[in-house]
Amino acid sequence: MDNTAAAQRPEAGDHASPASGPWPITLDDVTVRYPNGVVAMKNVSLEIAAGEMVAVVGLSGSGKSTMIRTINGLVKPSSGTVTVGPHDITRLKGAALRHARGDIGMIFQSFNLADRTSVYRNAMVGRFSHTPTWRTLLGIHTAQDRDIVMRALDSVGMLEKVWGRAGALSGGQKQRVAIARALAQQPAVMLADEPVASLDPPTAHSVMADLADINADRGLTVLVNLHLMDLARQYTTRMIGLRAGEVVYDGPAGSATDADFEQIYGRPVQSRDRLGEQ
Ligand SMILES: Nc1ncnc2c1ncn2[C@@H]1O[C@H](COP(=O)(O)OP(=O)(O)O)[C@@H](O)[C@H]1O
Ligand SMILES: [Mg+2]
Repeated sequence: MDNTAAAQRPEAGDHASPASGPWPITLDDVTVRYPNGVVAMKNVSLEIAAGEMVAVVGLSGSGKSTMIRTINGLVKPSSGTVTVGPHDITRLKGAALRHARGDIGMIFQSFNLADRTSVYRNAMVGRFSHTPTWRTLLGIHTAQDRDIVMRALDSVGMLEKVWGRAGALSGGQKQRVAIARALAQQPAVMLADEPVASLDPPTAHSVMADLADINADRGLTVLVNLHLMDLARQYTTRMIGLRAGEVVYDGPAGSATDADFEQIYGRPVQSRDRLGEQ
C-alpha cells in the first residue's frame, strides 16, 4: 500500500491515511487495579520497538489480556502511562481514542466475526475506522477500500472464500478472516489476545506463521498473548513473562529454557503447557 496515494485521495479526511509506519509501544510504571480490588498489573515498564515480534506468556489470570486492553485503551491504568506510536493512550478519550485505535489491529481468541455475513463484508469492517461516517452509513466503499480488503484476504489465503458466509468457515479460516479484517485497517501495530487458543495444533501453527509473516513482510509491530511455551519460542523473537501482574521474564524467546517457563508459571512445566505433536 502506497501511503502517498492514500494521502492524496481526494475524499480522504484526516482519518483516511494509514499510519506512516510501525509504531513502538511503551508502558511506563503501569498499574491496573480493577474496581473489585484485583491488581491485574503491578508497576509494569516495557519498551517494545517498532517492528518487534513479541510474545506475552503467562498462566491464566496473570494479566495478559489486561495488558493488551491497556495498550488499546479499553482499560485505563490506575497509574502509569501507555504510549503507542505518537499517542499517549492513557490520556485519549472519545473520538481521539477511536482515531488512535484505527491504527491498532486487534485479534481475539473468539474471532469476533459476524457469522451471517460474507467474508468480504467482515473484512471490510477493518476499513470503517478510516471511512467517513456518512460513507459507512450508506455502505459506500471506494475502489481503494475494496482493493485493500481483497489484498488483505489474499495475504492470508482467504480469497477463495470471499463471498462465502463467515459462519461456514473452520476455526482457522475464521481467524484468518479476522487477521485480514485487522490488516484492512492498515494498522501500525497488531495486538493478538490468545489468537490460537481455540485451534487444533496444526491450525495453531499456521495462524502463528501468518502472524510471523505479517511481522516479517509488513514490518508491523506484533504483540501476541500466548499460554503455550513452544509457540512463543518458535514464532516470536522476544518473550515477556507475566506472573500475577508482574514482569518476571523479558528476553529472547527462542532460547528460553524450561527453567525460564517454570519461573513464569510459578510451577514445573506440564504437558498442557506445550502444544504437542502437530
Ligand atoms: N474486568 C475485570 N474486573 C475485575 N477483575 C478482572 C477483570 N478482568 C480481569 N480481571 C482479573 O485480573 C486478573 C488478570 O486477568 P487477565 O488480564 O484476564 O489475565 P490473563 O489474560 O492472563 O488470563 C485476574 O485475576 C482476573 O480475574
Ligand atoms: Mg486472557
